[in-house]
Amino acid sequence: MIDLSKLPKDAEEASLAASTVDELVKVQNQFLGKKSELVAAKKALGSIPESERATAGKEINEIRVSIESVIDKRRVEIEDTEWETYFLNDVADLTEVLNPITRGHLHLITQARDQLEDVFVGMGFTVAEGPEVETAWYNFEALNIPDWHPARGNFDTIFVDLGEEEEVMLRSHTSPVQIRTMEEQRPPIYIVAPGRTFRTDSADATHLPAFNQIEGLVIDKGITMGDLAGTIDSFVQAFFGEEVKSRLRPSYFPFTEPSAEFDISRPDGSWLELGGCGMVHPNVLKNCGIDPEEWQGFAFGFGIDRLVSMRYQLDDIRELVLNDARFLRQF
Ligand code: PHE
Repeated sequence: MIDLSKLPKDAEEASLAASTVDELVKVQNQFLGKKSELVAAKKALGSIPESERATAGKEINEIRVSIESVIDKRRVEIEDTEWETYFLNDVADLTEVLNPITRGHLHLITQARDQLEDVFVGMGFTVAEGPEVETAWYNFEALNIPDWHPARGNFDTIFVDLGEEEEVMLRSHTSPVQIRTMEEQRPPIYIVAPGRTFRTDSADATHLPAFNQIEGLVIDKGITMGDLAGTIDSFVQAFFGEEVKSRLRPSYFPFTEPSAEFDISRPDGSWLELGGCGMVHPNVLKNCGIDPEEWQGFAFGFGIDRLVSMRYQLDDIRELVLNDARFLRQF
């Protein structure tokens, strides 16, 4: 008679040593399979005396049941661990969806232009626009710069090869929008006109051939130079902060009389020239059919690119148009 009593204990040890279901299946075959000792013992039942057969059969059966329960218990343990490992390692990684989506933002110049518009709209101005390609009438003549006038030379104008010579051009300042506005609207007028302007300047650290200006025009009754100075002061403080001061210096423009240039204070105490301004010349009003005896006004114009480069202390204004994402991303 084979000793089967140690089988459940052996089966339990072998089961515990198995760490995967596959390994456990091997243990199961070893102890319960066709070639197992248990099956051999069962086959041998026929050769033992009939009187002992029932007891031996019962014993074999009990041993089989206890081996099965040992293996089943281990199977549950292994499956639990396998599921746990699967859940921890093989779950779909959804965290990517939670990453912030990379988005671009408005260009520095556009941001400044929007903010400038906001400041002036807050002061009661509306926003006007004009074309980038202009005729001599709007860019010069109506602004009191006839063709013989030496001031035309100051504007380094880029002419377009259309019609008469020097008749069509890329606007060299935003002042033509003054004329277009006065032709269309009756006073009182309070407008600002931001936009692109062009001159033959070659690009260097402080110049761009295509740049941006913002023009202001006020036409009303009893407007004085004091209103102009006050408007510039309020704007400068709204845009740059309370600590920044502005000043006017006498200058000359054919379309304003008197004319001035305006500067803003830098943190180091020096002054930066920002633009030109003055009281609208009576000839300009007449050119637009407005009676200078009845209406007066002021105008100003300054460079947006300059203002941006001063605000962010750019070393080279060309950064604004190079479109290097590493530069642009900073703002
Ligand atoms: N258009 C002038 C320039 O570009 C600036 C200016 C605007 C001066 C309005 C006076 C009044 O230099």
